[in-house]
Amino acid sequence: MALLPQKKKRKDPGLPGASHSWAGDGPLTLAKFSEVGIFLVERKMGSSRRSFLSQLARKKGFRVEERMSESVTHVVSENNSGDEVLELLDKQSGICRAALVDITWFTESMGAGKPLEVENRHRLQVKTAADGGPIGIPISQYACQRRTTLDNKNSLFTEALKVLAENAQLCENEGRYLAFTRASSILKSLPYSVTKIDDLQGIPSLGEHCKKVIQDILEDGICREVEELIQNERYQTLKRFTSIFGVGVKTADKWYREGLRTLHELRASKILLTKEQGAGLLYYEDLIVPVTRTEADSIRKIVEGAVHRFLPAAVVKLTGGFRRGKEYGHDVDFLITHQEEGKEQGLLYQVINWMAAQGMILYDDITDSKDQKWKNKEPEIFDSFAKCFLIFKLQKDVVNVLRPNTAGDHDPLAKEIGHGGRAETCERATYAAVKVKDWKAVRVDLVTAPFGQYAYALLGWTGSQLFERDLRRYAKHFKHMSLSSHSLFDNEQKKFLSAATEEEIFAHLGLDYIPPEERNA
Ligand code: UTP
Ligand code: MN
Repeated sequence: MALLPQKKKRKDPGLPGASHSWAGDGPLTLAKFSEVGIFLVERKMGSSRRSFLSQLARKKGFRVEERMSESVTHVVSENNSGDEVLELLDKQSGICRAALVDITWFTESMGAGKPLEVENRHRLQVKTAADGGPIGIPISQYACQRRTTLDNKNSLFTEALKVLAENAQLCENEGRYLAFTRASSILKSLPYSVTKIDDLQGIPSLGEHCKKVIQDILEDGICREVEELIQNERYQTLKRFTSIFGVGVKTADKWYREGLRTLHELRASKILLTKEQGAGLLYYEDLIVPVTRTEADSIRKIVEGAVHRFLPAAVVKLTGGFRRGKEYGHDVDFLITHQEEGKEQGLLYQVINWMAAQGMILYDDITDSKDQKWKNKEPEIFDSFAKCFLIFKLQKDVVNVLRPNTAGDHDPLAKEIGHGGRAETCERATYAAVKVKDWKAVRVDLVTAPFGQYAYALLGWTGSQLFERDLRRYAKHFKHMSLSSHSLFDNEQKKFLSAATEEEIFAHLGLDYIPPEERNA
């Protein structure tokens, strides 16, 4: 077999193809062995040899892909170790379920004029998880190809990485934020606790910085960089300010630069707040207390009741973290739809007006689906459903209201009352009468979707955020499709793909179905 000599110098250290089009593959129907999809790794092979080998294989009836995709069955490389190839694939193309083979498999197959069985001597040696590593199966760099429950076996590391991710976000460094978030997410998905640095072999998305953090924690129990950050004044202050509803990083940073540090200073300052921020600051002490599942259920019953007054057959679905099985949340998310498309229009106004009349609403911000503020926004990030971000006034359990001890020390109002020296009954009665606050402010999001988009909206609003992000990234890179909370568009067939259920959406994407409780990426 006369093959081109090996390239001494390589032009491109990475994998080629990310910029190549599918058209470069030639018509797939011409391939005699279409069940076999070959991807040639350019690294160390060089582009001209790669291109020569591609042409040769195509002439012999093989299907050669210009870039890594799900339809690749054989990844062929020359002079790279299996780990090197996996790392390259991971950086650019995601999970690899294909066989990693040496060039010898390729040349022998060309010589035989047909794809040969892969024998052990053809296989590249992999020292990673794919081969004798901690779990024995490759781990995808895409959260939508991992099952992540709430049973996090690596919280010591993920908590530290979360601090670094938050700090990157507060520094408006999106790249670093994503890198730390991805690393943390992948550790959350592991079915084992990392106890030594070797346990990390074969795990994608772990850069040197993340590995160093993990190593520090393994050795010393803590990571100094993280500990220092937690003590850092800017980090502390910006975290405090951005935890106010309606305050983003830019505003928090501006206040910090103006010398503000505490909520007390902010409240005492003459700084002009938006209506949203005003409400956020007013109900701050309540809003930073996590919402419990019991509270979410109470709110669900109230919202359902309100919605059914106007549309008895409407569907009210709890989404967000609570749908993923979380016991606590920062808010409660609901998705509302009606089987007869169009019926849901205007519903939100009726519901909010009614709830407001009942005294249940402390703040509301309704966005109409036709609202101009969604125009020209990225549909993958900003959906244009009619929605309402609100602060709900949840009445506390009457029993709790009557018992000062359970109202507790956390309640600033309870402290003001004082209850020494009186008979208990009298004290209770007085407490109930005097205590002004028998409710809790809770953030609630209500979203309405037309029935035809319901499955997409449900998938989009169930989260987690990283899971959603990776679903979209996966759709784009592997399927040439655009996924949003409204639809899935096939950019090759130039058509929208309809789906009645989340399962159908996963099927369109060629992904195994992942239930909500395993989307806690
Ligand atoms: P949340 O921010 O409520 O997060 O968004 P969560 O997962 O429920 O977690 P906690 O407990 O409240 O903190 C829920 C999902 O809704 C989508 C997000 O992508 C997320 O996956 N979402 C949220 C939107 O699509 N648009 C928004 O404006 C807000
Ligand atoms: Mn939520």
